[in-house]
Amino acid sequence: MARAATRYVCQACGSVSSRWQGQCGDCEAWNTIQAEAAPVVTAFTAKHSLSGGGRKFAMASLADDVELPKRLSTGIGELDRALGGAIGGPAANAGGLVPGSVVLIGGDPGIGKSTLLLQAAGRMARDGHVVAYVSGEEAADQVRLRARRLGLAKADVQLASETSVRDILTTLGAGKPPAMLVIDSIQTMHSDTLEGAPGTVSQVRASAQELIRYAKTTGCALILVGHVTKDGQLAGPRVLEHMVDTVLYFEGERSHQYRILRPVKNRFGGTDEIGVFSMGADGLEEVTNPSSLFLTDRDGSVSGAVVFPAMEGTRPVLCEIQALVVKVASGATPRRAVVGWDSGRLSMLLAVLEARCGLGFGTHEVYLNVAGGLKVQDPAADLAVAAALISALTDRPVPHDAVAFGEVALSGELRPAGLASLRLKEAAKLGFASAFAPKGTASGAMRVEAMPTLAALVDRLAGQP
Ligand code: TYD
Ligand code: MG
Repeated sequence: MARAATRYVCQACGSVSSRWQGQCGDCEAWNTIQAEAAPVVTAFTAKHSLSGGGRKFAMASLADDVELPKRLSTGIGELDRALGGAIGGPAANAGGLVPGSVVLIGGDPGIGKSTLLLQAAGRMARDGHVVAYVSGEEAADQVRLRARRLGLAKADVQLASETSVRDILTTLGAGKPPAMLVIDSIQTMHSDTLEGAPGTVSQVRASAQELIRYAKTTGCALILVGHVTKDGQLAGPRVLEHMVDTVLYFEGERSHQYRILRPVKNRFGGTDEIGVFSMGADGLEEVTNPSSLFLTDRDGSVSGAVVFPAMEGTRPVLCEIQALVVKVASGATPRRAVVGWDSGRLSMLLAVLEARCGLGFGTHEVYLNVAGGLKVQDPAADLAVAAALISALTDRPVPHDAVAFGEVALSGELRPAGLASLRLKEAAKLGFASAFAPKGTASGAMRVEAMPTLAALVDRLAGQP
């Protein structure tokens, strides 16, 4: 006889254990484990062999000539781009939502997820699609107020403020399925098939499962909003990532105006095209040419600042890397702080600079910042970061009309970066005259100072006034 028992589920990663622990053994998050009622399972014995007694179905051939569903434009080009499919594809199949697919949009609270989806819903409704927007966080009037501010007062979006998945699916099931259904957010939804408060992993999983089934059977594109908090308070989109087709992260610093929509998983397209937006008084505006967005007004006389021509998917984005090193009293452990780049990568670069170039940072605090709130993931940032660090330590500015890019190996050798000609072209367009780049990088739109090793860059920058 099966009995209902208690199990302990990590609210961040969903892993299950039989006893409570302060730290999750799988994802190593602290204080994320909560007691939940275990689902009732009947014992599986040999008697229950799964062969026979089931329904027989016909298999289809991959080669069958069926008409595939067209992607649906959200009316927001940058969102369509992040959803994939647009680049290089035929015009008839431009980027956008795949009917019946499920998209998870994750991000910190207040970053602009609701704003973005309300704008998309409004534009799709204007284009004649049936769109439903269900908010579990705001009352319908609040959503209406926001829509008015976004200039969407007249958009015929079907609005509801509900949290019961059964009620939502009953209501939707009674009419024509919408082209897009937005659930804002999945953490506020609850399914009455399970006990437990909304927001727990089991509730999030069960609610999402029901909604996904609805999307797959009706062909409605489902968008789930998921909050991510640093302390793992809300049940994690980590669990959801496996269940959905596409995962987009909406990132940026709340104090900056720019937002980036970054795909991290996509069953229907690539994950290298980002969407760029700017948050203004009347909502999110698309930034179709982001190349100069993250460049600040530059003054050639500052040491520690280097411009890096990053590639975000197929688009170049120039940004300024800033480094500051401060000598500390002997004996104190020097701090390392990074905004917008990987701190592990910084430690690696500092070690390479020390071991291969004899530049010691052991008695210095090191601060690294990517200006403008961009999070740089392009591996070619190594050389620009190294140049900024060298410049900061030696207090010699890097020529202000130069950019730097390339990957640094642990040996101190430099590896050429991909899409170098595109980077050079964009930098030239924005007024830069030369580039520090690994040996083997062809001079294209501008003069390239080819460096075989990091040590060569150190020598070259030491020659600066
Ligand atoms: P919101 O979409 O509610 O964030 P999320 O759904 O991700 O929690 O965005 C809230 C923030 O955006 C809020 O701090 C105010 C800002 N904002 C603007 O600056 N302009 C606007 O037009 C709107 C609607 C919001
Ligand atoms: Mg919101």
